[in-house]
Amino acid sequence: MTTPETPLLALIADEKTRETLRATVRQMGVNGALVGEGGAAAARTLLATTPAPGVLIVDVSNSKEPVQDIEELVVLCQNVSTILAVGQLNDVRLYRSLRDAGADDYLVKPVTEEMLTEALTAAMKPKAAAAVVQSEPGGTRCIALIGARGGTGTTALAVSVAWELAKGRRKVVLLDLDLHFGSTAISLDIEPTRGLREILSQPDRIDKLLIDAAAGRPNEHLYILSAEEPLEDSFELSPEGLMTVMEILAETSAFVVVDVPRVLGPLSRQILATADIIGLVTDLSLAAMRDTQRIIALIKSLRGDAPTLVIANRVGGVPGEIGAPDFARAIGAKIDHIIRFDKVAAVASAESAKPLAEVAKTPQLQKSLHDLTNALAGQTTGDKVKSSSLFKGLFGG
Ligand SMILES: Nc1ncnc2c1ncn2[C@@H]1O[C@H](COP(=O)(O)OP(=O)(O)OP(=O)(O)O)[C@@H](O)[C@H]1O
Ligand SMILES: [Mg+2]
Repeated sequence: MTTPETPLLALIADEKTRETLRATVRQMGVNGALVGEGGAAAARTLLATTPAPGVLIVDVSNSKEPVQDIEELVVLCQNVSTILAVGQLNDVRLYRSLRDAGADDYLVKPVTEEMLTEALTAAMKPKAAAAVVQSEPGGTRCIALIGARGGTGTTALAVSVAWELAKGRRKVVLLDLDLHFGSTAISLDIEPTRGLREILSQPDRIDKLLIDAAAGRPNEHLYILSAEEPLEDSFELSPEGLMTVMEILAETSAFVVVDVPRVLGPLSRQILATADIIGLVTDLSLAAMRDTQRIIALIKSLRGDAPTLVIANRVGGVPGEIGAPDFARAIGAKIDHIIRFDKVAAVASAESAKPLAEVAKTPQLQKSLHDLTNALAGQTTGDKVKSSSLFKGLFGG
């Protein structure tokens, strides 16, 4: 049985490879690795009922349809695991097809300790350094995150993504459009902005200095625009102010990450209609399924096929969850990212006022958050494991 913390699960057909793998894992000091007998079928059965491990090594030697098997395992692992296939066949076409199907590497038997150490080092390395996105080459990129329902973790992910992007050393602005209840600032223990409402309501007076002065700065490159307007005050802001703010931010920032409130006022609709990419954050509950469907329909009605990523968050931690494949079928869209429920990280994030990506301890959470950041930033997700091992086998290098 795997748990969300299982670093490695291997299902291998022959004892010799299992032995080599056990020795490698011992040598590398990986605790909690599970090495068992079998191949793709056993992996499918196991992963249908237990959480995906950090790394899945699966023997496809006995698979009739190895590529299809990997495709199915990728779905079952839902972006959580790095998948390494092991097999007998030394064939570059198979290698390419397996990689296209989602395997991160393919190791040809006889598998040595050296090959395994190299593949596992790459697979288990926290992807923080590699995943830091340098900048958006084609100007400012606006990333909108909206929750299908309250409490799905939209703000936590917006903060995390903005924080990671700011490591690329260019200006990143996190704009919290929930002027009454926004929690981006409080989650990083900084003062909410003074003046965001005034800025948004007086488009003709906005300039760069005013925006910068209003922003909270948890670090050199991250600017947070948020508010804590009195609940007694009800006000309606026109999209004009927001458009002006976005135009000014576009001159100076690499990324603008917007935490979009679900109360769909004019500003939320404007962001949904204009963002470069939308991340729709949901959990796997029935109610969230319905609202994911409705928000996807709304986005379509606003602008046709806007680039939208469906992000299932808190997976494994919400009562009455629907299985990911059924959920995807019902919403009529793929679940692009799965982020598992990680209570330890959530507690650490709240206690230290740091983003989830900064306090995540498990390789699964680290990887899923980095992949999400890269995908939202428009970079290819999941930097692939170096592909030398097959070529070593093929050319004896
Ligand atoms: N993957 C996760 N695992 C465990 N806890 C999580 C995860 N993602 C977010 N959380 C926690 O869930 C809680 C709600 O998160 P958050 O405030 O970001 O949700 P929200 O969707 O922005 O809510 P609201 O609708 O109030 O704006 C927080 O305590 C957060 O740390
Ligand atoms: Mg929120």
